[in-house]
Amino acid sequence: MTVPQISLNDGRTIPQLGFGVYQIDPGETAAAVTTALEAGYRHIDTAQMYGNERGVGEAVRASGLGRDEVFITSKLNNGFHEPDEARRAFDRTLTALALEHVDLFLIHWPLPTLYDGDFVSTWKTLEEFRADGRARSIGVSNFQIEHLQRLEAEADVQPAVNQIELHPYFQNADVRAYGAEQGIATEAWSPIAQGAVLDDPAVTEIAGRLGRSPAQVVLRWHIQRGTIVFPKSVTPERIRENLALFDFELEPADVAAITALDRGERGRTGPNPDRFAYVPS
Ligand SMILES: NC(=O)c1ccc[n+]([C@@H]2O[C@H](COP(=O)([O-])OP(=O)(O)OC[C@H]3O[C@@H](n4cnc5c(N)ncnc54)[C@H](OP(=O)(O)O)[C@@H]3O)[C@@H](O)[C@H]2O)c1
Repeated sequence: MTVPQISLNDGRTIPQLGFGVYQIDPGETAAAVTTALEAGYRHIDTAQMYGNERGVGEAVRASGLGRDEVFITSKLNNGFHEPDEARRAFDRTLTALALEHVDLFLIHWPLPTLYDGDFVSTWKTLEEFRADGRARSIGVSNFQIEHLQRLEAEADVQPAVNQIELHPYFQNADVRAYGAEQGIATEAWSPIAQGAVLDDPAVTEIAGRLGRSPAQVVLRWHIQRGTIVFPKSVTPERIRENLALFDFELEPADVAAITALDRGERGRTGPNPDRFAYVPS
């Protein structure tokens, strides 16, 4: 079971498949991450907003794996975009994880209607974390093309990744294409649309024919398109199933059949980043 590595624009690499922990209860996170690490996952995606960084750190330490064997991502919460707040929040992330560094740290949302529309000074603060080695790579999440263009014009370092909503019903094609053009790796959040795409007849037909699960077919579609994914599950069989993607391949016609499911903006399940302005209390 070899998970491919994707090269990032800063010379580092990231395992193409990881384990997402959004909506995993803090008290259950260490157990879920332990199951994932035992299954063979070596990339965990968490965030300050998820409230479960501590459980991720616990499981990684308890695994006996070397620090360099597990790729760990976290994200800056929406209330901490002001540079001093971002510095303090990043310190708290490392404390909660009980680690000296994260492999990747992201601005979770651009929040263009808050902070006077200034996510550039937030980004420059992440550049500090990269310079001092406490974030090996830095990137963004939910950035639209115009947000990426602003960083390109005003920042020294370009994001290594942009983590965006992307699944068969909402393929976010323009943002993904822009990232590919600019050397920014695309990470797909909600890669199986939290289960909503798994009953689609196009998906179940392919799954039945190949003797694979619908989730495996959709995740394999992402993998063959070069996208980074980290499906979430608290169910041990599903955790293992979602990793078993590297002993089969989709024919081009099957890839095309899934790509044809795109509903454009109608398929979006999460908030629109242009308007999203949620700050957790
Ligand atoms: N940057 C952002 O703004 C953002 C937003 C959302 C998510 N994310 C990241 O992306 C990760 C994945 O997205 P997500 O958690 O929203 O959704 P997802 O991975 O698309 O779907 C998770 C849901 O699908 C179910 N599931 C998982 N594997 C399955 C399988 N093999 N068969 C059937 N059902 C299955 C899970 O159920 P059980 O757990 O009950 O098994 C869970 O309800 C998150 O955990 C997080 O790391 C980032």
